[in-house]
Amino acid sequence: MQNQPIGIFDSGVGGTTIWKEITSLLPHEDTIFLADSKYAPYGKRSKEEITALSIKNTEKLLELNCKIIVVACNTATTNAIKTLRSKYDIPIIGIEPAIKPAAIYTKTKKVGILATKGTLSSELFVKTSDLYTQNIEVIEVVGTGLVELIEKGKINTDEMHTLLHSYITPMLDKNIDHLVLGCTHYPYLIPLLKKMLSDQITIIDSGEAVARQTKAVLIANHLLNSDSEIGKHTLYTNGNVDILKNILHKNTVTYTVKALDF
Ligand code: SIN
Repeated sequence: MQNQPIGIFDSGVGGTTIWKEITSLLPHEDTIFLADSKYAPYGKRSKEEITALSIKNTEKLLELNCKIIVVACNTATTNAIKTLRSKYDIPIIGIEPAIKPAAIYTKTKKVGILATKGTLSSELFVKTSDLYTQNIEVIEVVGTGLVELIEKGKINTDEMHTLLHSYITPMLDKNIDHLVLGCTHYPYLIPLLKKMLSDQITIIDSGEAVARQTKAVLIANHLLNSDSEIGKHTLYTNGNVDILKNILHKNTVTYTVKALDF
């Protein structure tokens, strides 16, 4: 079982930000990534729809022989992880907005969080946020339209700049010193965000933490691949293959991108 791939899925191309961290921390693991771009964005969908899509993706990854599943999507994690964990026997790793470190390190006691409507309104997010932010003001902003633009490959565009600026402005007005990216698509906006934010504002995303958690879970379950060979990586999309290829173009590991109907 140790030689089987790690399965990772997202509502689209955004989860590749998590995939990159996993392949960098675990170079001997094979991975299979599913970009469910045909059904993106998940953030606008109901809990029932998000759960059904998450089950569909998990079934496909199991069919492709994966040994564990990483849900590289905040919206799918916050809405569907409980169901996935009760339905499947293999380890399932989720991703939550990194509210805790922001709450610990903030000096202004003002933290911004940018996420989808589906994440911010989920029970899991509300519980986590309540737990860590009792003496802190959290400025929550729904990033409507950001995932759609990233899925179209429109990252460095005026349209993206204007939209992102409109979401960041209310947080800057409140004097935040930490900005939590609560969607795995958003790390692709970090270069743009850095132009809008002062050096005093720390941007936090969950990529490295999820990769470390994946490694810990593999070790705890005796699933770490002990091969000395470099891992093989296949990324499937049911959307536009070129957009997935473009978003990955600066990546250093070798991988294959394929179209797949799932
Ligand atoms: C979405 O599909 O709406 C965003 C995915 C995420 O929350 O990470």
